[in-house]
Amino acid sequence: MTAPAVPGSPATAAAGTPLLSLSGVTRIYRGGGLLSRAAAPVQAVSGVTLEVAAGATLGIVGESGCGKSTLGRIAVGLEKPTDGEVALRGAALAAMSRPQRRAARYEVQMMFQDPYAALNPRMSLARIIEEPLRAKGGMTRDQRRARVRQLAGEVGLAAGQLDRYPRELSGGQRQRVGLARALATSPALIVADEPVSALDVSVRSQILNLMTELQAEHQLSYLMVSHDLTVIHYFADHIAVMYLGKIVESGSPAALFRAPAHHYTRALIDAVPQPTPGRAAPPASIRGELPSASAPPSGCRFRTRCPAATDLCAAQEPPLRDFGPGHRAACHFPLTEPAAAAPGKEFS
Ligand SMILES: Nc1ncnc2c1ncn2[C@@H]1O[C@H](COP(=O)(O)OP(=O)(O)OP(=O)(O)O)[C@@H](O)[C@H]1O
Ligand code: SF4
Ligand SMILES: [Mg+2]
Repeated sequence: MTAPAVPGSPATAAAGTPLLSLSGVTRIYRGGGLLSRAAAPVQAVSGVTLEVAAGATLGIVGESGCGKSTLGRIAVGLEKPTDGEVALRGAALAAMSRPQRRAARYEVQMMFQDPYAALNPRMSLARIIEEPLRAKGGMTRDQRRARVRQLAGEVGLAAGQLDRYPRELSGGQRQRVGLARALATSPALIVADEPVSALDVSVRSQILNLMTELQAEHQLSYLMVSHDLTVIHYFADHIAVMYLGKIVESGSPAALFRAPAHHYTRALIDAVPQPTPGRAAPPASIRGELPSASAPPSGCRFRTRCPAATDLCAAQEPPLRDFGPGHRAACHFPLTEPAAAAPGKEFS
């Protein structure tokens, strides 16, 4: 392992080094407490390798329980992986000194699904937005106040609203506060876990547009997690499809929607409601239930729900193969032809 670089120092990261990289990340929950002591370990995330480039957006999509939030918490440093490595600008978090890790923590911030649950109801908006600045230190009270006003302006909150409390705001306004708070320490990456799922459809695009504007302004990267393929398709530069703890396909939104290789991706696309009148109604949902993460199926984890599954799918885990530039999938009987001489590389 190379010596840890100082986070935040562009000079220490070679050109082309991804901002965030996860290599073979696995998270196993072993249970705890009286009721779950006898429960089998849950493999929430299993050998995930991915990268987020500076200024880019990676979208992670998959059904409820597939491990998206666990992956997000690991990316932001709220949880440690059971196995594998998380690196910021090429420097492994686990190998960093305490001060380095502290600095790295402010470079990656989180936005949550339910802004009401995520915001302290007893704090004014000004205090909520200011909190990360107080924790980080290095600013006077007046500097912090000025920064809070600046952040409020950036996310479209009036200065007069800063004395209010979360209960006085609409869902969209609360998510603006969540965004201002995430931006406070000038992070390079925001991990957004279902940031618009709790919002009315009419407000969703306002928040997504705001996030896009702020990305351009601050050269931000996003790791966005969602069960909603429409949101991910609209927002992400690169999509990773997750099934039962594993990334089964990844590629550009255009490649995935035009020619998905994996049967699960196809099923997710088919499950998106079609607004066009006269088009055939899609299947209501993907058939069957997501199997338990404590006893995943052998071979390909999607085989219990896949219309094309054979004995091979139960016997062998499919290797990752290239299907085009930046497009990879793990399927024995893919829907499209793999690229010639596919090296079977990991996802990135
Ligand atoms: N702290 C925990 N202890 C035990 N099991 C957990 C814990 N957190 C998550 N899990 C389990 O890990 C798996 C993945 O959960 P996770 O919350 O990451 O999924 P998700 O894709 O974010 O789901 P959702 O879309 O419903 O938010 C699930 O089986 C879940 O029950
Ligand atoms: S490997 Fe087999 S079960 Fe898995 S998606 Fe491909 S065809 Fe279906
Ligand atoms: Mg979740």
